[in-house]
Order: sequence, then C-alpha cells, then structure tokens
Amino acid sequence: MLTKKTILCIVVSFLSVLGTGVVTSVPSDAPDDIAALRDIKKKQALREKYGIEDKMVLPFEPIPIIEIPGYGNLSAPLVCDELKIQSQNDKEKLAEAKEKVYLKGFYEGIMLVEGYKGQKVQDVKKPIQKMMVERGEAMIYMEPEKQVMSRSADECVVALCDQWYLDYGDAEWKQQANEALKSLETFCEETRRNFEATLDWLQEHACSRTYGLGTRLPWDEQWLIESLSDSTIYMAYYTVAHLLQGGVLNGQGESPLGIKPEQMTREVWDFIFFKTSPFPKTNIPKEHLQRLRREFEYWYPVDVRVSGKDLVPNHLSYYLYNHVAMWPKDNGKWPQAVRANGHLLLNSEKMSKSTGNFLTLSQAIDKFSADGMRLALADAGDTVEDANFVETMADAGILRLYTWVEWVKEMIANQNNLRTGPADTFNDRVFSSEMNSGILKTEQHYERMMYKEALKSGFFEFQAAKDKYRELAIEGMHRDLVFQFIERQTLLLAPICPHLCEYTWGLLGKTGSLMKASWPVAGPVDEVLIRSSQYLMETAHDLRLRLKAYMLPPKSKKGDSKPPAKPSHCTIYVAKSYPPWQHSALSLLGKHYKTNNGVLPDNKVIASELGALPELKKYMKRVMPFVAMIKENLEKNGPRVLDLELEFDERAVLMENLVYLTNSLELEQIDILFASEADDKVKEDCCPGKPFSVFRSEPGVSVSLVNPQPCNGMFSTKVDIRQGDSRDSIVRRLAKVNRLIKDLSRVKLMRYEDPLLGPRRLPVLGQEEQGKLLISNKSVFNINLEEKKVTLADNGLTVDIGDTLVYLVH
Ligand SMILES: *[C@@H]1O[C@H](CO)[C@@H](O)[C@H](O)[C@H]1NC(C)=O
Ligand SMILES: *[C@@H]1O[C@H](CO)[C@@H](O)[C@H](O)[C@H]1NC(C)=O
Repeated sequence: MLTKKTILCIVVSFLSVLGTGVVTSVPSDAPDDIAALRDIKKKQALREKYGIEDKMVLPFEPIPIIEIPGYGNLSAPLVCDELKIQSQNDKEKLAEAKEKVYLKGFYEGIMLVEGYKGQKVQDVKKPIQKMMVERGEAMIYMEPEKQVMSRSADECVVALCDQWYLDYGDAEWKQQANEALKSLETFCEETRRNFEATLDWLQEHACSRTYGLGTRLPWDEQWLIESLSDSTIYMAYYTVAHLLQGGVLNGQGESPLGIKPEQMTREVWDFIFFKTSPFPKTNIPKEHLQRLRREFEYWYPVDVRVSGKDLVPNHLSYYLYNHVAMWPKDNGKWPQAVRANGHLLLNSEKMSKSTGNFLTLSQAIDKFSADGMRLALADAGDTVEDANFVETMADAGILRLYTWVEWVKEMIANQNNLRTGPADTFNDRVFSSEMNSGILKTEQHYERMMYKEALKSGFFEFQAAKDKYRELAIEGMHRDLVFQFIERQTLLLAPICPHLCEYTWGLLGKTGSLMKASWPVAGPVDEVLIRSSQYLMETAHDLRLRLKAYMLPPKSKKGDSKPPAKPSHCTIYVAKSYPPWQHSALSLLGKHYKTNNGVLPDNKVIASELGALPELKKYMKRVMPFVAMIKENLEKNGPRVLDLELEFDERAVLMENLVYLTNSLELEQIDILFASEADDKVKEDCCPGKPFSVFRSEPGVSVSLVNPQPCNGMFSTKVDIRQGDSRDSIVRRLAKVNRLIKDLSRVKLMRYEDPLLGPRRLPVLGQEEQGKLLISNKSVFNINLEEKKVTLADNGLTVDIGDTLVYLVH
C-alpha cells in the first residue's frame, strides 16, 4: 500500500502552459476591471458597503497602456460598451469580452508605456516579469494546472525540485519534430491535430528522478532517467535485442554472439545506428558488429507504432523528438506511422474493478473463445473514439460464427443439389459483383487498419450479399458461386477469426494452412448492376409497405370499417422518363451542376429561374419540394440523380425477378407496365427509379382440391378460381398452400367426368384416376360470380367442373 500522501517531484510542463503570469489587470484592458470600476462609481450603496470613499474612485478614469488595432487604446471600455455590459454580474458577456481583447491584445497589442513604447505585448511579458521580480514587486509562484492524483488515487503534494530537463521547446529541435510529423501517417485527422497542438506547447520536460527504475544519468549519477524520457527510442534497441539477450527478457540470457554488456560502448552503439560512424575500437569481431548494423538497417524505420491516444501528448511526441535528435539528417529512420486508439469501454461503461464492470483477457477468452473475442474487439470501434466491448454483441457474434460454419457444412453436404451450368442469371451476376466489391473494400479497410469497417464489409455485408442471393435466386444458388463465396469469406475473415477460418478452410478440403494462402483476387465489379439490385430491393421494400397500407381498414367516422381483402394482383408502373415538369426542373439543375463545378445555386435563384419557365406554371407548388428532394438525394447518391434516364432497364430488372416479387408479396400475379400506358395520375406519380404500384383483388369462386392418393401427406384444400385461370396458375396457387409440393411439373390436375356424383363416390385404391379427366394446360377457366359456378373451355367445348377438382402428385 502506498501512504496517503505521496510526495512527488512534479514535472514543470504543467506549469509552462500557465505562461508568465503577467496579465493586464487594469480598467483599460481588463473587461472585469472596467465593469467593476463603473459599478462602484455608479452605486453609492456599494461604495458604502465596502467603506470606499468617493475620492478613492470618482476622479479616476482608465489610463491607456496598450494600443490594439481595431480596439484603440482603451480596449476594455470599448468592448464593454459594444457588448452592452451593464455590470460586473454580466458573467457570460464578460467572458466573451475577455476572449476578444485578451487574445488580440496578446498577439497584436503595442505597448504605450514609457520604457516599452512601441514593443509588442507578446515580446514584453517576460522582460516585465523579470523587471518586477528584480524590483521586488513580484515573486515567482508556480502551481500545477489542476489537482494531481497518483495512479493509486492519492492526492499528490507537489514540489519544484532541482532537476534536469529535456528542452522540447528548443526551436530547431521542435521544427525538426514538426517536419517528422508532416510525413507521418496518423490514420486520422484528430491524432494529427493532437500532435500539432502538443508540439505547439511542449517546452521543458523534467527527465530525471531520484528513485525507481531507470538508467543513471551519465554525467550526473545521482539521477535516474525518468522512463518517459529514454523509452521513446527503444524500438531501435528491439532490432538487435535478440542478438544481445538471446530472447530472455530478464537479462540473464546468453548473447548468441557472445557479446557482454560492458562491450556495448557508446562507440559500438554509434556504429550500429549510424551508417557514417567509423568502426569502433572494440574486441567484438567485425562480422558480429556488422551483423548488428545490418539487422538495424533491415528493420528500421518503424513502420507503425500503435498506442493509446492518451500517449500522443507525451510518449508519442517524445518519440518523434528523440528520433529526429538521433538521426537529424536521415529521415529514412524517422517514424512512418502512428496509430492511436481510444480507450476500451466494457458494456458502454468505463472498466472499473470497484463497480465490478471488469473483465480480464483470460476471463473474456474463457467466456467468448479467442475468435469470438477477436470478432467483438474488432467490432468495438476503430477510431480514437473510445471503443466499446459489449458482451451481448460478443454473444451475438459467436452465434453468427456458429451459423456460418453450420451453413458451410450444409452447403458441402448438399453440393450436388446446387445448380450447375452457366452462372449468368441476374442474381448470379449481382452476387458475383458484390463479392468482388466486398473484397476490394475490405482490402482498403485492412490497409487503413480500420478493423470494424473491415469486419463490416468483409463479414456482415458479405454475408448479407449471400443471404440476398439465397432469397432472390428462385432458380436456386449456383454451386460455383456458393463455393467461391465460402472460400473468399474464409480469407476475408481470417485476420480477425483465424482459428475458425482455418477450420472452414479444412472443411473445403484445402491442403496446407490458411495462413499460407493469398488474399483473394477480386474480379470485375459492375457498379450499375449492383445499383440495379439495390433498386430491386428498394422496390420490393416499398411494395411491402404499400401492401401493408393497402390492407389497413379505411378511416371511417363510424368506426365499423373492415380491412380490405388481401389483394391478389398488382400492377407496377415504371417510367422511362420524368414527367415533363420534373424533366424541365431536372435539366435546369443538371445544367447548373455542370457549369458550376458540382455546386447548385441557392434555392432562391433556382426558384426564380424555374418560375420563368412557362411549362412549369401549373406545377409551381410542387417544383421546389421536388428540387429539395433532388438536392438531398444528390448529397447522398452523387450526380447520378441528375440523370434524366436510369442507367439500367428498370422494367427488365423487375421482370427478371417477377417470381420473387410475386412470392414474397404472396400475390397471384404482378404485371409490369410502362407509365406512359397509364392514366395521368400514374404518369405524375411515377418517375425513373420510382415505380408506382396499384393493388387490386380479383374475385374468384372457391373450389375444393382433393387428393385421393393414400399415405402421401397431401391434403384437401380450397382455392379461389379466377376468370382466365389456367392449369398452371391453379397448380401454382395450390403449391403456395401445400408446401410439400416442390416440383410443379409433377402435379396432375383433373376434373370429374361426372361433376355432381363424382366427388361423392369412394375412391378406389390403386385407381385414383378412374372417372376423372386430365385438365390440359391449354384450357381456360371461366367463372360466373353470381351463380358461383366454374366452367372450363377446352378445345372449343365448355364444361361444368362442379365444386371439386382432383390433384395427383407423382
Ligand atoms: C488614445 O487614443 C485617443 C483617441 O484616438 C487619443 O486621443 C489619445 O491621445 C490616445 N492616448 C494615448 C496615450 O495614446
Ligand atoms: C403445356 O402442354 C404442352 C403440350 O400440350 C407441353 O409441351 C408444355 O410443356 C406444357 N407446358 C407446361 C408449362 O406444362
């Protein structure tokens, strides 16, 4: 246990930010002071309260001491008047006033006072401090910026002790550190800004202490070098450590080259680290020393240093300083990249032993497995923002991994049932392009060390592409694509979940370790095709919403309204072009966009230009909302939204996926028509990429469908027969309620020879077709709604089918 009060010698850099301590505290330049002076002059009661006599304040006016460009020589009274500050209680306005004059005063103010006349304020602060101290008018007083707490949560007593400092404020040194920063990859702007701010204020850093771990200061052995000061160059040591310590960290190991610590003199180190150093006087064999130098030259510079963001203002900045100090002329040895990460939250809260919100690495691995843990950590966050490890997410992640492996096994077991032949349907091509695009994106994310993003594009979205493919590929997934997917998924996920991926790699029958496999090569990406698939998904989504809205009960005042029957049909209208008024508006926007380098003028300008177009007269109310919508889409989706025509054939995309759309909406039929064939209302509501849909219920006559075959699990059911139905459409309808029917071509639809008595006779085992006639796929069903009768037009004959049909499945 540490004692309650820990005594520390505290680093002076806390103090340097406070500056000289010389600030103006006079009514001419300090808003607080002029406000107070005015108050006390104005209010007699206030003077009495503090026992101040009139003659002490009333005759006095502020005396100019500093001239600030734009503020004159009495900046504080001026700013207080400008901001209409009434009294010293106007705290917020006073803070604003201070902000204004202090900064400008410091950087631009010119002294008016004798002895310093004409000099800049920022140049005289130090001399004035010195003068005041010498005259005994001031004394140096230092205090930490804020209360200092030790890591054991004890309050620290701070003392300024005699010390050695590293002068990070040295102009030339600082300038070189800045140069190193310029070529440093920081992966995000925030880290760079943090570095810049640090280099800006960094001054002397106390580098010695009296106790603890560390190396003695060579020229003043009573001091130890404080660890933040010399540890920032240790990467250079790493490059040769294995040849000196033999892989043993505690210093007890034998050097593989037989080198003793005392042989590592300054000259020997210089030889290793500096190409231009002469061969030193030493009894270490030449080839050994050259080996050490080669090793250093091979590994240096440091490609990337990964560390917590809290180390940017100290450790990582010193790291830059120390490298440029060691190799001032050899920027090939300077740090190449720093990746700073945030802290890790657990379940959205700070980790803390005292609250129990705590998880050690080994507990986490026991709980979530190595790969589950790695997945959750990758997903926890990428930037300097704090990452968040959420246990429920980790659980969900494991489940995803499990589902994925199970799916791989299922595909391997069922590979012979997957489709073969050419893989060139719409959805095959979309899936292929989406895989390629996923590989490229994931590659970029890994390169930028954005693991959450890599996980998103390389696992979550990659899987979503597969799920979409599975859903849309009515004709079945293609075997080659499925196995290509599994292989690529395994490779993309391998950096994050290596164990699991090694396992699926084995399932695929690959010989050799996944660790030796190459990154997958992406094929071509058809962006237009991918967008047409997005269009399909959006349209399907939109149709589902519209269907839901259609089925809501109509709003009626009586409140007894019934919801409409589920529609059976839908007509989707697609537009080849925009309605004329939209076409005009869009053309105008497109013209501006092109001539203005991608910037659209103000809405006011657009409105007046559009107002001048005669064809828009009737539509003025709708034009500006349309423009607003286009502007919004432009921001989201880029200049494509200004195109007057779609880049793909909307109708063809929907036609290719008609079965999927019909099934997923549980409709009988979807027709796709051009809006130009529809009435004006539809024409107005429809534009390229935004189809318009109309649902309707077609009436039907209910007929029983019976299955006389024994022991096959098929059942009797009722279906609605509609005007114009065919054998095929009825079988399709049957298959929707009878999920046992997979292959529609195996279904035989029959009618009774005697529609009245037929259904009432007992079926004869083994002679299920007796007394029945096949319904050919050429015949057409006609219905009579009033009498609820169905007839069949077959080869020019019209026959009554009664109320029952028969189906057989072979
Ligand atoms: C301060 O400014 C006023 C107005 O410009 C001027 O008349 C006056 O001489 C100045 N005082 C000093 C000390 O510069
Ligand atoms: C319709 O019947 C003809 C012969 O009558 C056949 O060639 C064709 O494949 C059938 N179509 C369907 C979809 O069953």
